[in-house]
Amino acid sequence: MIKYCNNTFFFAIIKMVIKMEYKITTRNEIETIQLAQNFESEKFPNMIICLNGELGSGKTIFTKGIANALGITETITSPTFTIIKEYQGELPLYHMDVYRLDGNADGIGIEEYFTKGGVVIIEWADTIKDILPKERLDIKFKIVDENKRILILTPYGKEYEDLCEAVL
Ligand SMILES: Nc1ncnc2c1ncn2[C@@H]1O[C@H](COP(=O)(O)OP(=O)(O)OP(=O)(O)O)[C@@H](O)[C@H]1O
Ligand SMILES: [Mg+2]
Repeated sequence: MIKYCNNTFFFAIIKMVIKMEYKITTRNEIETIQLAQNFESEKFPNMIICLNGELGSGKTIFTKGIANALGITETITSPTFTIIKEYQGELPLYHMDVYRLDGNADGIGIEEYFTKGGVVIIEWADTIKDILPKERLDIKFKIVDENKRILILTPYGKEYEDLCEAVL
């Protein structure tokens, strides 16, 4: 009995210490879109997806797949100059690109979008790390070659862990 208790305790600690990570390789932009489309059955209000990775690594392409998953037919374009773009679908999509903020999100009201009931996608999210909710899905994009990308998904919180289990 004591042994089982210890094991349970041990695994709980391990889970706290080890970050869960899922590594996916896509071979073209269609595969990246398809991966994001798989989120369709798992979407929920106030879902936060934070995208990071160098220029041209596929963050906006991934967002197109999420838009498809939300039933949005409008064309998704990069919000680099507007910072935030809103689209209406089964859930609203709030697509942000915070690259131009250079880490200064003061006065923009980004936090208000986290609880508006939509799906929030933030490109270059690491630059505003301090204001991000603790519970979220982080996705890091790495360019391997012209068409190959590695996506590393890290869920924070039970909802996002379940999402990853269901989708990947
Ligand atoms: N496997 C892939 N997944 C996603 N995009 C790919 C892939 N292979 C090639 N590409 C190409 O890479 C480019 C990705 O552009 P995208 O606008 O999504 O990048 P981004 O990460 O949003 O860049 P930025 O930081 O400038 O916003 C597109 O031209 C797309 O066709
Ligand atoms: Mg982009």
